[in-house]
Amino acid sequence: MKTLVIANQKGGVGKTSTLVHLAFDFAERGLKVAVIDLDTQGNASFTLSVHKSEIAASSLFGDVAEFDLAPIDNIAVIAADGRLADLEKLALEDAATAFRASIATIAAQGFDVCLIDTAPSLGNAMASALLAADFVASPIELEAYALQGIKKMNSTIAAIKKANAKLQFLGMIPSKVDGRNPRHTRHLAELLAAYPALIMPTPIGYRSSIADALASHCPVWEIRKTSARAATKEVRAMTQHIHDKMEIA
Ligand SMILES: Nc1ncnc2c1ncn2[C@@H]1O[C@H](COP(=O)(O)OP(=O)(O)O)[C@@H](O)[C@H]1O
Ligand SMILES: [Mg+2]
Repeated sequence: MKTLVIANQKGGVGKTSTLVHLAFDFAERGLKVAVIDLDTQGNASFTLSVHKSEIAASSLFGDVAEFDLAPIDNIAVIAADGRLADLEKLALEDAATAFRASIATIAAQGFDVCLIDTAPSLGNAMASALLAADFVASPIELEAYALQGIKKMNSTIAAIKKANAKLQFLGMIPSKVDGRNPRHTRHLAELLAAYPALIMPTPIGYRSSIADALASHCPVWEIRKTSARAATKEVRAMTQHIHDKMEIA
């Protein structure tokens, strides 16, 4: 099983949209996908609600060595719950050790991929996820505040790699991009100059059909609007790119 964390210490940048579309796309490919929602807002749990399991995300940090996770149409969601907030009272080492054991339990049940959604703060939840994962990807917005966050994210990943050497940063996915906005164009050019290897070549435009999809519990390719076509093309390019980078068999 390959584990991918979607993380950015900034909110509203497209993390959950990215994760949900990866889950739908991978499931369509016939892969068995586990989704762990570590954000108390529970947005991924909402969009993927028909795939919800009985397991609460906070329990992955306790000593539940054994549990059964059964996918519904290839996706099994371990939903966010209120007790995730209590994680911050644990020592990181204890939280991370328990979470790593839970990931092993999921892997042992024949899942091909585990996708982890995170809240926009570096707490025990995000740190534990990064310490257990193989890959991390960061959706970003092309606004000044979001760009400031990238530096923070880069140093977080560098610090985590000292304890989890296998962690690979797949890069940043420019999201909610307005191609007619000169500020966005300028910021994208600046980013490409500063981090040539870390900007994924698959930006996602600002598309209302994507918000429609998240609200309708479906991927954007199931939205029956002409404007969903361009969004679908971009999102599929992103999922294909990540699928290739993760070298999923
Ligand atoms: N490409 C996009 N175009 C337009 N709206 C988007 C796009 N991606 C996400 N959104 C909307 O923007 C908001 C934040 O996106 P979300 O994926 O929840 O970000 P995060 O998980 O980083 O907070 C949501 O309301 C979502 O519907
Ligand atoms: Mg989110």
